[in-house]
This record gives sequence, structure tokens and C-alpha cells, in this order.
Amino acid sequence: PVPVLTIDGPSGSGKGTISRLVAEQLGWRLLDSGALYRAVGYAAGAEGLDLSDAEAVTRCAQSTKIRFQAPADGGDTRVIVNGHDATDELRTETAGAAASAIASIPSVRQALVDLQLGFRKSPGLVADGRDMGTVIFPDAPFKVFLTASAAERAKRRYKQLKEKGLNVTLGALQREIEARDERDASRTVAPLRPADDAVLVDTTGMPIDAVVAKVLAVVQP
Ligand code: CDP
Repeated sequence: PVPVLTIDGPSGSGKGTISRLVAEQLGWRLLDSGALYRAVGYAAGAEGLDLSDAEAVTRCAQSTKIRFQAPADGGDTRVIVNGHDATDELRTETAGAAASAIASIPSVRQALVDLQLGFRKSPGLVADGRDMGTVIFPDAPFKVFLTASAAERAKRRYKQLKEKGLNVTLGALQREIEARDERDASRTVAPLRPADDAVLVDTTGMPIDAVVAKVLAVVQP
């Protein structure tokens, strides 16, 4: 079977950056599963749906067309939702909160399973998310769970959003992240938790290249 490295963890744990760099190093494909939930939350919002209407949001998850597109100039991967480049809208904490809301609906998660499994192609896949090692790729030979202190995670996300020109305050961001983590960890479907066979990496105070090295060592000891 095609090898998979799952990288799960809470927001601001560095999953996104680390997954991208590790996939580049290995020459493997990348699945940003959070972008799928963000895209469905965004599409549901654009249709004016009530995000707690499980049936309507599930239909939306089943019908939304999501594509990842690498730009020719080598910048950030673009996320195309129903033909519209929604990359910038998907980055906001509002989109993160919408994603977290619809991600707690079991039938929405079910609607995204096959799409995610389809990313497992030769020579390998790095899968970034909350339930990659526990639900989507339980048979993955390599699993990592990234953590960091709540304060550090809020600081990282703050810096990231500022760099993208978004207007946020650190205090509000920390509260939003904590609320989202709490919801992600306490939901009944695919709650955020490390797989039993995941390697735990606490990235608090660790520079990016050190985390990348540690994760690569899981695949190539
Ligand atoms: O970048 P960050 O970790 O903050 O967020 P993300 O990975 O883009 O995910 C946004 C939200 O989608 C999370 O808060 C989860 O509620 C949900 N999600 C999920 O339930 N399962 C996944 N595999 C990925 C994301």
C-alpha cells in the first residue's frame, strides 16, 4: 500500500507548515483536510444555510466542488470552491469557527471520507488534520501528533494572520482558539486526540526546522 504519514494536532500546533515542508522533503502528496472543512463551512455560509442544519449542510458537503491548485509562481496553494478562489476567505478565524461548527456533524464528515482517501497516491501522502491517524488513515504506518502550549499556539496564529494582513488581537485570538479546541476535543464524532500509535511531539519553543527533522525521523529513522 501507498505509505501515509498522518500529522494531527490542535490549531497553531504548526501542522500546516510542518506538513507542507515534510511533504516537499519526501516528495509526497499533501492533504490539508482542514481546508476541506473550511471550504464546506464557507460554501454553506455563501448559500445562506444555518450551520446547525445538519441535513442542509450535509447536502452542501456532498455537492461542493473543492480543488487545490498550485500557482505557477510557486506561492501558496489556492483553494478553489465551486469555481471561486476562496483561499483568502478560508484563512480567517471566522472560517475556522464555521469549519469547526460543521465538522461536528457526523454526516458531513462522512461526505468527505472518499475525497480524502483519494489523496493516497504513489509515492506517498502526508495527511494534515485532526482525525487523520484515528479515523481516515488508521492503517497509516507513520503517525505524528503535534502539540504546543495554548499561549504559543495563539502567538503563532497571530503572527501568521498579521503577515497575511488580517486585523486581529492576540487576546481575542487566544480565546477563539481555546473555544475551538474545546469543541474539537469534546465532540462525539472524531474528537481531537492522538492515535494510540502516534508519536507525540511538543513543539513549544522548537524552531520549525527542528520539528521538521523530528517528523522526518519518524518516516526515515
Ligand atoms: O489551521 P487550524 O488547525 O486552525 O484549522 P484547520 O486545520 O484548517 O481546521 C479547521 C477546523 O476544521 C478545525 O477546528 C476542526 O473543527 C475541523 N477539522 C476537522 O474536524 N477534521 C479535520 N481532519 C480537519 C479539520
